[in-house]
Amino acid sequence: MAFSEKRENNGAAEDSNHSRLIKLREFDDTKLGVKGLVDAAVAKVPEIFRISNNNKHQLPSDLDHSSSGSVHPNTTAAAAAVRREIVGGIRGSCEEWGFFQVVNHGIPEGILDEMIQGVRRFHELDPEIKKRYYTRDLISGFFLVSNFDLYRSAAASWRDTMGCVAAPDLPPPEQLPDATRDILIEYSKQVKRLSKTILELLSEALGLEPNRLNQLGCGAGQLLLGHYYPACPEPEVTIGVTDHTDASFITILLQDQIGGLQVLHRNKWVDVQPRKGALVVNLGDLLQLVSNDKFISVSHRVVPKRIGPRISVACFLRPLIHKGDTDSPPVYGPIPELLSEENPPVYVEADVREFMRIHSSRGLDEPSPLQHFRV
Ligand code: OGA
Ligand code: NI
Repeated sequence: MAFSEKRENNGAAEDSNHSRLIKLREFDDTKLGVKGLVDAAVAKVPEIFRISNNNKHQLPSDLDHSSSGSVHPNTTAAAAAVRREIVGGIRGSCEEWGFFQVVNHGIPEGILDEMIQGVRRFHELDPEIKKRYYTRDLISGFFLVSNFDLYRSAAASWRDTMGCVAAPDLPPPEQLPDATRDILIEYSKQVKRLSKTILELLSEALGLEPNRLNQLGCGAGQLLLGHYYPACPEPEVTIGVTDHTDASFITILLQDQIGGLQVLHRNKWVDVQPRKGALVVNLGDLLQLVSNDKFISVSHRVVPKRIGPRISVACFLRPLIHKGDTDSPPVYGPIPELLSEENPPVYVEADVREFMRIHSSRGLDEPSPLQHFRV
């Protein structure tokens, strides 16, 4: 290729990057997210959301529909044998799938349903009220945002998100919107209780003392998100949320009955079939790090649909990472009891603030920060 020709091409690429950036800003400045586009009755998915041809996702019909197992953490006949069976089930799911569904978890179905309704009510509020919460600051209080990685991803995702830090403390009640305040407080309380139990079971599944992951502070910080995936006029050209792994230790996810969540299993996308009353647990990068690769964080994504909205609520269990939470920066490495001569550490100790900074300064679809901390 001649030099002048190459320069022209680069110039064209720069122009198109520039015009994309302008379009992203315009979209962001509406403060109304994808819901705003749907309310304006767009018939076509705008350019900024279109994934390039070679990245087109498989349609759900191409997929393997094999389903995975469920575990029942607090079966009433709480005998040691039952617990052993549960722990064994979790260990198998974590090694094989990186995710599992939990039933009989003790959170009443009415609370799950109301949580989904609370997220829906918020996203469907009067635009002028909703706009006041729109911000890219995810730390200081309750927020609404569309696409955390809007300015970094190759294509924007067809979803909006509300949320707040939920542990150690929720924002003061008066900062939470009426549409979702009461249920958010109640749901978060329930998830905190459940997360302790799940971390105990995961500790046992790793062969550790039941309290180990809780003592390590794996659930000390929590971020609660309420996602809204509007009905999409052209689901084949965009994505609900792009293929990613979570930075958390684990994520506890409540999804409605619409479907669209998929996990990558042996190089195939597998639907996580919605199951009424169940919660999905998926393992994140930090658990992979402290377990020294015994448990693997799983890639997952959400495919958009013509029907909707689809609503999900994700609670990310993380260490304390915010200023004021701890005096010294928390550092996590492979848990010593899991190491031996045959099983040497595959990660160095990671400063979690650095880990999170890397995680959130990239597009969701870029490689996970785990790579930076490999031995
Ligand atoms: C997430 C996520 C899946 C869903 O929030 O990280 O993967 O079903 N959500 O919304
Ligand atoms: Ni995720």
